[in-house]
Amino acid sequence: MKRNHWIAAFICCLFILACKKSEQISDQIGSFLGFQKPVNFPEPVYNFANNKITKEGFELGRSLFYEGRLSRDNSITCGSCHIQSSAFTQHGHDVSHGIDDRLGIRNSPPIMNLAWNKAFMWGGGVYDLDLQPIAPITAHEEMDENLENVMSKLRVMPKYTTLFKNAFGTSEINTARMMKALSQFMLMCISSNSKYDKVMRKENNTSFSTEEQEGYTLFKQKCATCHTEPLFTDGSFRNNGLAPSPVNDLGLYTATLNDADRYKFKVPSLRNLRYTAPYMHDGRHFSLNAVLGHYNSQVQQLPNLDPILMQNGNLGIALSTTDKTKILAFLNTLNDETFINNSSLAEQ
Ligand code: HEC
Ligand code: HEC
Repeated sequence: MKRNHWIAAFICCLFILACKKSEQISDQIGSFLGFQKPVNFPEPVYNFANNKITKEGFELGRSLFYEGRLSRDNSITCGSCHIQSSAFTQHGHDVSHGIDDRLGIRNSPPIMNLAWNKAFMWGGGVYDLDLQPIAPITAHEEMDENLENVMSKLRVMPKYTTLFKNAFGTSEINTARMMKALSQFMLMCISSNSKYDKVMRKENNTSFSTEEQEGYTLFKQKCATCHTEPLFTDGSFRNNGLAPSPVNDLGLYTATLNDADRYKFKVPSLRNLRYTAPYMHDGRHFSLNAVLGHYNSQVQQLPNLDPILMQNGNLGIALSTTDKTKILAFLNTLNDETFINNSSLAEQ
């Protein structure tokens, strides 16, 4: 009898540990919590009325996110280029690496806080998360597959008949349902548990160190107009003075064909930078020091350079060595270990 009690207590502990790891997604007894807006975040822009997040929809989306059959030779999953331990980027690759070792021209951005995102991709062009997966599935250098083949491959798998039925009530497998489920998974990839968030929410008396606080003050003066709190992007497309890349990626212009949009790229979030190197749309900078060096002394005077980076005849953002150290200390408070370790977001 006593032994059984110990075993029961042990199993209970394991259960509590497992629940703790997947906080945000489930509560202590494992009930699915759905989409929860962090209290220090604004209202999301995604239209949940058309795609209510359910446990079953999220689970189907997760399965699809890690499903090789979305690619021509079944070898590449969304998770190949959006790796959780790298905050859902493709760590170590400047530009993305897809099927048959083909290279893209852009760095894989994180799948993170997308419910607050109005436009997708570094150069825009996609404005609805539910339509975004068509791009990687069909891209020659990413998954190189077509939607009809994906549907045929999924329809013969009893696993998906069950998962689609659980999520949508009937076992019909179609593209619209696949997209909705993928969105449900990606919308749940919320990163909001960094030290910064805890300080803002005044959780457990968390506070910044002096260096972090000074870095925060500098950040608000020099960076926050574009990298706006709490998402650390204002969602706009801007030119931050990077020299055009060798492939001459024109950024937002590619989507709008408006000359004023040449070389404008989406302002990226600065959350989880510890895990997402290299940086910029083409991964040209391998360290945050290099990024700060860019703002301090390498900003190029391009026709569409953002006016913030050319004030009173001064190009770039003047940063002393101590400024840089302080800003780096602040940026370091934006890393969220619970996000990259959240077992609910991992391949099951
Ligand atoms: C071969 C690597 C690769 C694969 C596979 C891949 N992606 Fe991506 N993903 C990228 C790159 C690179 C970008 C940026 C593309 C651009 O800016 O033009 C991107 C952009 C995105 C974005 C936009 C994020 C933002 O902040 O704008 C989403 C969402 C996304 N991918 C989801 C997916 C999904 C879902 C799948 C699977 C169906 C997938 N990706 C497969 C490399 C990949
Ligand atoms: C005028 C708007 C603007 C200002 C001001 C600005 N940035 Fe940026 N930042 C951008 C844009 C746009 C990009 C993406 C550029 C690209 O890839 O082509 C970017 C990219 C970055 C990246 C790369 C992130 C990634 O995931 O690849 C970092 C890090 C960064 N900025 C930090 C800062 C810091 C620190 C400051 C203040 C010293 C700052 N930025 C000021 C607009 C701005």
